[in-house]
Amino acid sequence: MSDPANSKAPVALTRKPAKPPASPGAGKTACIRTFGCQMNVHDSDRMRRMVTDAGYAEVQTYEEADLVVLNTCYVRENAVDRVKGHLGELSRLKKEGRVKKVALTGCVGAAEEATSLEKTFGVDLVLGTHNTYELAEFVGLPGMEETYTPDLPGMEEGDSAFVTIMTGCNYQCSYCIVPTIRGRMACRPMESIVAEVERLVAGGTKYITLLGQTVDAWRHGGMKFCDLLERVSKAAPRVWFTTSHPSNMEDRTLWAMGGRDTVVGRLHLPVQSGSDRMLKAMHRGYKAERYRRKIEVFREAVPGGTLSTDIIVGHPGETDDDHERTLELVEDCAFDSAYIFKFSPRGGTEAAGMGGRVPDDVVQRRFLQILRAVERNGFEANQRRVGSSEDIYIRRGLSDSGGAIGETWGGHSVRLAHEISCGAEPGDYVRARITSAGPHALYADPGGEPPGGRRR
Ligand code: SAH
Ligand code: SF4
Ligand code: F3S
Repeated sequence: MSDPANSKAPVALTRKPAKPPASPGAGKTACIRTFGCQMNVHDSDRMRRMVTDAGYAEVQTYEEADLVVLNTCYVRENAVDRVKGHLGELSRLKKEGRVKKVALTGCVGAAEEATSLEKTFGVDLVLGTHNTYELAEFVGLPGMEETYTPDLPGMEEGDSAFVTIMTGCNYQCSYCIVPTIRGRMACRPMESIVAEVERLVAGGTKYITLLGQTVDAWRHGGMKFCDLLERVSKAAPRVWFTTSHPSNMEDRTLWAMGGRDTVVGRLHLPVQSGSDRMLKAMHRGYKAERYRRKIEVFREAVPGGTLSTDIIVGHPGETDDDHERTLELVEDCAFDSAYIFKFSPRGGTEAAGMGGRVPDDVVQRRFLQILRAVERNGFEANQRRVGSSEDIYIRRGLSDSGGAIGETWGGHSVRLAHEISCGAEPGDYVRARITSAGPHALYADPGGEPPGGRRR
């Protein structure tokens, strides 16, 4: 990538091209806002590295920022609406002279709609998901693809880090824009992934999350995801992975999850629907029965583990009967939690052009029925943990109560009271007794701490 200043006027060969200043962003501030999935969280982290390498100081509010980077999601229309709201506010702040530059990056940046957003809101830089490294050039660094490649880790200096093992997606689910935006699947070699994990662990990282849109579809040089998971689980003290696709999830991976004590026993396996008719229309590549069998293996292989899923309500053509099948599957699989989405037509996807739209009130009714069923199951499963003693990994402190949010080895989220988590930092373990439970979390309150107290 050449310096834009140099590319306009030819540079005399006898003269050395001017070096970019060491700290082109010195004295300037940048705010990075992230929307969407973990891929974007990780991409934001790499962009954070670029702006801080350029000398910018990171700030948390738009009002304080010279440069704002919106790293965006395109998966559903409401995600885009949110971005438009932020762009509106930013163009106002720019007119007032508070914000100087706005960059629109990520999945909206990669969509055709970005051109009109750029014009409407006076965006200064639009980048897709494949050329985020160009932000480096924008902030005055020699922006080279080799320097800010997706293979390189981001800024993670804390207790936990994401490691992208594959990008893109080879599926063509009827409703989904992700393959159009992120492209075909590309898997990183095992050695490069393991080297990154080892580097992070040597630097103090205690929790590694392997990332990909279909993370269990990873394969390279005759190796499959299970081989990689086993390698990484030996190299890191705590490991998780997301998002898995049911068609790629092998039984041996589920057994490896249960068999290796460094792997968190939490499986996120999006099912989308419990109706074979809908699964076929969605091109998911499996039937509900096969999904149920996977879950049976998971429950046997990972006792005390947690299961979450994604469900789409109101895909074109979905009947009450299809919906009933989904409710049945929700009961059979007893998900601990689920992300339930109302179908959102995305231009360019097959489902956007399908007939059989489901009226909004019907979608709303089905949505609530599934939500209630999931919450009831989650609540019952969480209640069964009350009284158990757990080694809880501290994820972050809570500023409001002085307590903390943690995670059990089974993947349950735990809210620890101040008296229980007191003094523990993210990355520490606290051994505590679960004293109560709600539909979304377990609670460890005073009076429940077993003898032995905290373990680090
Ligand atoms: N790669 C993952 C998830 C990608 S997007 C997988 O295949 O499971 C995250 C979730 O958004 C999907 O699982 C799906 O439930 C939901 N989703 C994707 N496109 C959607 C759309 N057009 N309308 C509503 N929900 C959608
Ligand atoms: Fe989208 Fe399907 Fe690929 Fe997931 S597997 S990213 S839902 S196309
Ligand atoms: Fe959204 Fe892009 Fe992720 S569309 S879900 S941020 S891959």
